[in-house]
Order: sequence, then structure tokens, then C-alpha cells
Amino acid sequence: MDTTKIQEKFSSLFGESGVLYTSPGRINLIGEHTDYNGGFVLPGAIDKAMYCEIKPNGLDKVRAFALDLNESAEFGLKEEDKPGKGWAKYIFGVCREMNKKGREIPGFDIVISGDVPLGAGMSSSAALESAVGFALNDLFNLGFNRQELALMGQATEHNYVGVKCGIMDQFISCLGKKGSLVRLDCRSLEYEYVPFAPKGYKLVLINTCVEHNLAAGGEYNKRRESCERVVAEIAKTHPEVKLLRDATLDQLKEVKGKVDETDYIRSEFVIEEIQRLLDTCEALQKDDYETVGKKMYETHEGLSKKYSVSCPELDFLNEQARKYGVTGSRVMGGGFGGCTINLVKEDKVEEFIKGATEAYEKEFNIKPKVYDVVIGDGARKL
Ligand code: GLA
Repeated sequence: MDTTKIQEKFSSLFGESGVLYTSPGRINLIGEHTDYNGGFVLPGAIDKAMYCEIKPNGLDKVRAFALDLNESAEFGLKEEDKPGKGWAKYIFGVCREMNKKGREIPGFDIVISGDVPLGAGMSSSAALESAVGFALNDLFNLGFNRQELALMGQATEHNYVGVKCGIMDQFISCLGKKGSLVRLDCRSLEYEYVPFAPKGYKLVLINTCVEHNLAAGGEYNKRRESCERVVAEIAKTHPEVKLLRDATLDQLKEVKGKVDETDYIRSEFVIEEIQRLLDTCEALQKDDYETVGKKMYETHEGLSKKYSVSCPELDFLNEQARKYGVTGSRVMGGGFGGCTINLVKEDKVEEFIKGATEAYEKEFNIKPKVYDVVIGDGARKL
């Protein structure tokens, strides 16, 4: 993204220029709603990111401007200074989490902007938290590593935004690497870079342009609570089970009838999805993209029918993918709107995009957006 506008705004508001930082949004090939269950995920950072220009201001407050919203905010850095504006809470939260780790954050001026589509399931909020965290850490020499920055981004969501998210989005935004997905074990935080350049295939995102807002309605948090209730029940007879990651389908069956039916079905999805990710990684090692694609369709089915985080628009795009012989397709990210991720044979890309987007527009009277996926680097100074 061209950062000229950010720089112009920064100097017009604050006189001098600051330092520019960026952190990306993400895709996730497979492994959805597994992170907060201690399972695996397979995300990659993308070439769409949040950007910030930042400079210490010698005051005891933050002066912030969100370029894309044309809004400003000013706030102190004590717990009671929590700003009212949604976007400002992300900046404030990161500062507070750093403060809890014993770092005093001096006042600063900041302008933020980005090209990660909001509410599209591409983690614009994690990108913002990571950009701000990375910037403050570098600017004020706070000595955090990337993993710690990711954890503080996640804590910001929990404590200042109200979404009890897992670690996937912030982790990949901080640690992503060009050309590679990351196979992350969300229980141990061990990870491995998995080079991803499927020969003859492309990854295409189609945005339903139906916005998902994970905080609103608390539907995301409810999924997490379902999983936690089931774990608590299983742990009564299997105390070693601390997360659904630790549980088998047989152990789940033992609590059938003892837990709420909806909680049961959701947990079944999670345990299956963790296994699906492992199967997908095996298939990737063999360049077996047909199997990868099949797993993606299975994930969609599970997210839609068992985990209930799809919506008619996403299901429609998934159907279109099947119709055009797309290798794999599914809802990506938290769900309730946003994008489908599609693994498409190169010679089918054009026909699929044309056919699916036209049909979608006809059906819903909404123009969907299409993005090519380019797997890029994580947080950095520009
Ligand atoms: C959101 C959350 C992640 C993860 C996904 C679903 O993106 O922020 O932690 O749970 O949903 O896989």
C-alpha cells in the first residue's frame, strides 16, 4: 500500500514525521476454531496490512488518528482512561498489556490506516494490534519478542475488546513469512514454516461483503463456552483433558446425554477439525492438493452444519465453488460473514470468479469482492 497519505496526514497533524510500521492480515488454509481449543492452525500472512506512523510526543497521552475513518482520539494510558471509540481501544489495550508486563509507555502520536478489508475474516484487528505492538516495542526498546507481542495482542482482544479469541491471528501477523504457511500448535505455541506454492493452483478469496463482527452478539464467545463446558464434563472422568485438543471422539461420546446437544455437536466439529488439519498437512507434504481441497470442503460442511458459523451468503459461494469444479472451498476465519477461501486450478480461476460473482450478485444484490492471495511477511518497520 502506498503510505503517502499516512505521511501527509501525520505531518499535517503533528508537525514532523514519525516512523512507519506495518503488520499484515492473514488467511488460514484449514484449522478453524481450533486455536482456542489448543489445536493446530495453518495460517499465512498476506500482502494486505495495517500501517501506522508513530512518534513520541513528550506528553502523557496518546493522540491518534484513524485515516480510513477520518476520526481522531486522545487518551491517557492509565486503566481508567479507556477510550470510547472502537478502534482506539486496540491501541489503548496494547499499551495497557505492555504496562502490565512492567513497561511504562510514554505518550505518542499515531496515524493508522490499512488495506485489510474490515469484517472480512482477514484479521484486520489483529493486524492493528500487531502493528501497534511491534511499533511501540521497536520505538521504545521494550525488549519483547514477536511471540510476546502476539500474546499481548490477543490479551487486548480479551480484556479491551471483549472477544475471547485464540492466538492464531496475532501470531501469524507477528511471525508470518513470505511464501510460507505456519503450522502452529496452539497448545505449546511450537510452530513450523510450511512453504506453500501449489503448482498449478491459486488461492482466491471471495468476500461476501456481509460483515462479520465477532464482538457483536457474542456468538464467537458462545462457541468457546460450549467447548469449555464439554471439556469440564470430560475432565470429570479424564482429568488429563484440559482442552478439546486433549480429547478423543470416544471420550466425547462418553459424555453424550450429559452435555447440551449443541455443545456436543460443536465439540465434535472441533475434534474432527484438528484431525483434518493433520491430514491436510500430510497431503501437503505429498503435493496432494485434491485431498487438501476435499478437507477444505469438509471443514465448510462442519463449520456450517455443526459449528453454525456460516450464513446463506457463504454457503451459496461454497455451492458455486462446487459447481465450477473448484478443488477446495470453505468459509475462512471466525465466520458469520466475510470470505470464502478457494483452492482453484489455474485454468479454472477465471471462469469460477466470473460465474460465482455474477450468480452471487444476482442472488443477494451485493457485489462480492475478489482477492488473490499473496503470502507475505509478518510485522516490520518500513
Ligand atoms: C477469529 C479468531 C481466531 C480464530 C478464528 C477461527 O479469527 O480471532 O482466534 O479462533 O476466528 O478459527
